[in-house]
Amino acid sequence: MVQPDRVHRRVYTDPEVFDLEMKRIWGRAWIFIGHESMVPEPGDFITTTLGRDPVIMVRDRRSREIRVLLNRCGHRGVKLEVRSHGNARGFRCLYHGWSYRTNGQLAGVPHAVGYDGTSFDIKKPCYQLTHIPRTDSYRGFVFASLAAEGPGLEEFLGDTKHTIDNMADRSPEGRVEVVGKVSNRFVQPANWKNFIENLNDAMHPMVAHSATGQATQTFVSTCCKEGDPRPPEAEVIQPFGGSYQFFDDMGQTALPHGHNYMGGHTSIFSHYDWPESYIADMTRAYGAARTKEILQFNRHNTTVYPSLAVRDAVQSIRVVRPVAHNETIIETWVFRLAGVPDDMLAKTLLYSRLINAPGSMVGPDDLDCYLRMQQGLGSERNDWVDFKRFSTADRVTEGGKESLGTSDLAFRNQYQAWLAYMTDAETPSAEGTDA
Ligand code: FES
Repeated sequence: MVQPDRVHRRVYTDPEVFDLEMKRIWGRAWIFIGHESMVPEPGDFITTTLGRDPVIMVRDRRSREIRVLLNRCGHRGVKLEVRSHGNARGFRCLYHGWSYRTNGQLAGVPHAVGYDGTSFDIKKPCYQLTHIPRTDSYRGFVFASLAAEGPGLEEFLGDTKHTIDNMADRSPEGRVEVVGKVSNRFVQPANWKNFIENLNDAMHPMVAHSATGQATQTFVSTCCKEGDPRPPEAEVIQPFGGSYQFFDDMGQTALPHGHNYMGGHTSIFSHYDWPESYIADMTRAYGAARTKEILQFNRHNTTVYPSLAVRDAVQSIRVVRPVAHNETIIETWVFRLAGVPDDMLAKTLLYSRLINAPGSMVGPDDLDCYLRMQQGLGSERNDWVDFKRFSTADRVTEGGKESLGTSDLAFRNQYQAWLAYMTDAETPSAEGTDA
């Protein structure tokens, strides 16, 4: 199904392929769960999914460490916590009242009689909240892996670490905090890979977003006199009306594990204006040279395959939560740079509203493309999805491959990682808790 420059339509449409992806990709890779700033106090938790598994990310009351636990009662499997977030002394099942500590330990069983002579033991692992085998964080970004063995988080992130570093380093205090919780969610009637491919598809903005680009050009040419500062809306939207050359010049880089990023040379954020007070705060914290280096780090969109996309310059991330072969939840989260004026957060929120939100000027264009792609790929009359653009022009570098911005390099790279995960049946994956 995967050839060097094309893939079979079944990778998007076959429920059996999706089932195997959940086991061999989402059951092995490091998957983004949440950010430490979402659970600052003991007992704070959020709920989400790791592949198909419902999980709770909680800050343990005793150790204050962050745990990622299976959100499933050890008795008969009831999902314990249905709130999206909150603060809990522990978790109590609504069915028969088994209660758990925030470290997952089974603390109590009501009317615990009738177990004499059985194998029931309150201390057995199968009766606790199952710990996800590996949990780790990088600069506050918490990931978990259902595989007990495999590359560590930093090795897995590789060069994409620098994008996460850059998001945090854009704060004079070197850290970011999630604003609210999940900012918005799309339920997309399409395969998860439609979205992850689109992130670094630089051939579509000139077509799919052309109406937005044209409207923005009109707005900019009529809204203000020559020499006036650009309105912030124009600064955000205008690059989406860029030319093929504009996107080619950005360049793109493909990395191990299916990761990649657009930009590097330039990005859609290259011509953003930053408030003088922010530059002054940054210069005080880092010095002028390092401040310049941080703000000129030109990555447009970094994909941490398969679950996360980071736009460091505007402190925004997109998170992929697959549901079925033809259904995916896409979340947008926004972050506040610690120790900076509120006008920086205003720009982050503006970007999210204009580009990523369900009612934005850009996101719905993409959604329409995913929906129609899923519909078209349902046809059995033409089996192949093509990724040949600039396939003979990849430049091999020390850490990966580079090409022009409009190359199909990112897709080819993602499918080589996909193939490696899917055909390696030996790598340990999620297994049930042994009784
Ligand atoms: Fe949870 Fe019975 S299913 S206590």
